[in-house]
Amino acid sequence: MPHRFEEIRKFVAPEVLFGADSRMLCGTYAERFGLRRVMVVTDPGVIEAGWVAPIVEDLSEHGIETIVFSDISANPRSAQVAAGALIYGAKACAGIVAVGGGSPIDCAKGIGIIASNGGAILEYAGVDRVSAPMPPIICIPTTAGTGADVSQFAIILDEANHTKAGLISKSLIPDLALVDPVVLTTMDSALTAATGVDALVHAVEAYVSNASWELTDGCALAAMRDIPSALPQCLASPEDMTSRRAMALASLNAGLAFSNASLGAVHALAHALGGRLDSPHGECNALLLGPVMRMNLSVMPTERVQRMADALGVEGGDLAKRLPAWFDEFHASLGIDAKDWKLALSEAEFENIARAASVDACMATNPWKPEVGDLVEMLHDALD
Ligand SMILES: [Fe+2]
Repeated sequence: MPHRFEEIRKFVAPEVLFGADSRMLCGTYAERFGLRRVMVVTDPGVIEAGWVAPIVEDLSEHGIETIVFSDISANPRSAQVAAGALIYGAKACAGIVAVGGGSPIDCAKGIGIIASNGGAILEYAGVDRVSAPMPPIICIPTTAGTGADVSQFAIILDEANHTKAGLISKSLIPDLALVDPVVLTTMDSALTAATGVDALVHAVEAYVSNASWELTDGCALAAMRDIPSALPQCLASPEDMTSRRAMALASLNAGLAFSNASLGAVHALAHALGGRLDSPHGECNALLLGPVMRMNLSVMPTERVQRMADALGVEGGDLAKRLPAWFDEFHASLGIDAKDWKLALSEAEFENIARAASVDACMATNPWKPEVGDLVEMLHDALD
């Protein structure tokens, strides 16, 4: 009898500790991992917000030396990964603690890959190209959206080619995620909105992905149920712990969903657009979600579109049309707009971005295969 491997699905996740002040278990766990010297990978904004010093102190109380590496921008560059990896090796670190949003966590994963495998980070772009696992890595996410703290993805800017390289491998799953809603309270409203929409896009893309299944659907729908109310509430009352906790949980759920079901054309286009303009990932996603779903939802079974609308609390009419319009309205209500991005792009560049997106690793699980012309149309819909 022939095997039917195409029906097999998998689900991988790190150990997760969720709840207020879970970040302060970092030292306890690092000691349990047997670490004596770790690199703390973070960025200047997170240091300024005051989240790094107490973690360094906690590690020190557990007898663990720390080397802080914070020379990381938004959209982390391959050169920043190389610089961090050089210091990691020179200082003989044995593990990594990443404190920050998606940029420091992705850069930390990059440093971990180089530490175990050598070479340059862009050599590992693509699916399943990383053989040796990273050294022990603990992630403390300071935004609610990235999902990098639980995912098998890392996105690194290829600065020479103005695009973003996606690395997808089980070797990129951190050992431990300390998901602590308390650290979310220092995000300003623009960062809260952009990262929160990233979580929504992770949930939606994982749900419509052709690699979705019951376990990823459960996570994706749970995130979709929370975000429409919790995200506006975080913006209205930044210190309200109930809504910050709901967004931390939504980000975790969405992260588990997309790590295992992968993503689609929104992220493929966002990587190409963000690589070209160096624009924030969450904002690129927000602008592209409606335009991509206008095409994606028309190929989805009606009952799946209905379940998604029920989770989001969206009603009425032809849902395959109503939902994309709702996404546009939602991101506009959060204050996210395209600014003058379109002015920076010629028509030829629209096509270059579409071409880069068409070969992005995330495109493989989009529910249908768009041509470059379809992708150009989506970009115009998003930016015009
Ligand atoms: Fe994302």
